[in-house]
Amino acid sequence: MATNRTFTMLKPDSVEKGYIGAILEKINAAGFRISALKMTKMTVTDAEKFYEVHSERPFFGELVEFMTRGPIVAAILEKENAVEDFRALIGATNPADAAEGTIRKLYATSMGENAVHGSDSDENAAIESAFHFPGREMF
Ligand code: RTP
Ligand code: MG
Repeated sequence: MATNRTFTMLKPDSVEKGYIGAILEKINAAGFRISALKMTKMTVTDAEKFYEVHSERPFFGELVEFMTRGPIVAAILEKENAVEDFRALIGATNPADAAEGTIRKLYATSMGENAVHGSDSDENAAIESAFHFPGREMF
C-alpha cells in the first residue's frame, strides 16, 4: 500500500556547497510537505548499514567514504505518489543523464557525488525514515 511518504538526504556535497536552501526550495515548489528534517552526520557504521544493499559493489568503499565525510540533511517528504514523484524530481543517478531542471542536473557533480538520495520503494522509504528519525521527530 502506498504510504505517500519518501525519505531523502541532501548528501555531503550539497551541504558543503551551500545548496541546502535551494534544494529544499525545489522540494517545496514541487508540492512535497516536509514532515521531518534535520542535519546529522553518519558514522561509517551508519553508512554501511544504510547502503547495505550495495555492499558487494565496487563503489561501496567510495560511497561510504563520501557519505561520511561531512554532515547531511535528512528529511521525510509527504505527497501523493511520493516515492515515484521524488525520483522524477531528483533525476538519474548520473547527473550527465539527468533531465533538465532536476535536482541532480542542477546540483550534482558526478555519479558518486550526486547531491541527493531518494528512496526507491515505499518499503525502503519506511525503513530509511525509521533509521534516521525516532517517532517523536516525525510530524
Ligand atoms: P540513492 O540511493 O543515493 O538515491 O541513489 P540511486 O538510487 O540513484 O542509485 P543507487 O544505484 O542506489 O546507488 C547509490 C549511490 O551509490 C553511488 N554510486 N556510485 N561510481 C558508481 O558507479 C556509483 N554507482 C552508484 C551514488 O552516489 C548513488 O547515488
Ligand atoms: Mg538507491
